[in-house]
Amino acid sequence: MTDSRTAPDRNLALELVRVTEAAALSAARLVGMGDKEAADQAAVDAMRLVLGTVSMDGVVVIGEGEKDEAPMLYNGEHVGNGSDPKVDIAVDPLEGTTLTAKGMPSALAVIAVSPRGTMFDPGPCVYMEKLAGASDIADLLDLDRPVPDTCALIAERRNIDIGDVTVIVLDRERHYERIDQIRAAGARVRLISDGDVSAVLLAVSEGSPVDLLWGVGGTPEGVISAAAIKAIGGALVGRLWPRDEGERKAALDGGYDLEKQLTQDDLVKGDDCFFSATGVTDGDVLQGVRYEGRGVASTESIVMRSSSGTVRRVMARHNREKLAELIS
Ligand code: FBP
Repeated sequence: MTDSRTAPDRNLALELVRVTEAAALSAARLVGMGDKEAADQAAVDAMRLVLGTVSMDGVVVIGEGEKDEAPMLYNGEHVGNGSDPKVDIAVDPLEGTTLTAKGMPSALAVIAVSPRGTMFDPGPCVYMEKLAGASDIADLLDLDRPVPDTCALIAERRNIDIGDVTVIVLDRERHYERIDQIRAAGARVRLISDGDVSAVLLAVSEGSPVDLLWGVGGTPEGVISAAAIKAIGGALVGRLWPRDEGERKAALDGGYDLEKQLTQDDLVKGDDCFFSATGVTDGDVLQGVRYEGRGVASTESIVMRSSSGTVRRVMARHNREKLAELIS
């Protein structure tokens, strides 16, 4: 009798978790030390070292910036051991540099990978206005509708009071007028000082204390969040948000559409992307790196693959002596 089942192919996410674990373990030595650049550099160095061992031919589409300013994991850099598959890579070795420096919650090490040519390249577009929420409200996400009206529709859809609707928002001056409007409509606001990847993960999760993410945050973070959403579900729409005339012109000259509401499928095309995040500091979504004495450190990660919809939480214990070279 022949077996008609197809053997599952390789799940790159299981290798990528080592990459984000390394970045998180390395950055975690600098939690609360007041030096965000050093923490970021530690995460970048460790992530790059382990990325070199992953069997893939990767090109960094979203990295740490231009080559001259950030010589590691720069946009266009080739990473991986050079063997197939050919992939695009988005990295945020330390998402929440200030959170880490101040010892505050929800800093993560993150990576997303998708087949070559499928990842949105933000080019000159640093910021994006975003809305994200769980699958049951996906059709309500519209950046042209005032956020308070969307909160009212969410309340109606979920058969709850608008006072039960919570919107998570980056605490930035550019958001203050809208925050006042959301509050005036009776919905609640959870302000965060940084870290909108973690906030998106929270907003799209079923049964989460947060119903909606709104606000202007990094475009790279939007693309990385999109990769996660394609695996765990939920929805995100984002619209490029130039800060000034110079950025607007650069975006238009580069052929970017500034009116379009980009969905997770525009930001990461196709259906075979991978995502891994490891907690650096404790947060709503992941526990941070813990030191357990006797040379042991532990990490918690979430790893996902969109084609199968597999989402794994990975708890790992690490021998710090063996890691010493990596995190020195
Ligand atoms: P860093 O880790 O690079 O400091 O970014 C953190 C972050 O808060 C992101 O989560 C968010 O998308 C972006 O910065 C917001 O940018 P800004 O701080 O310029 O408003």
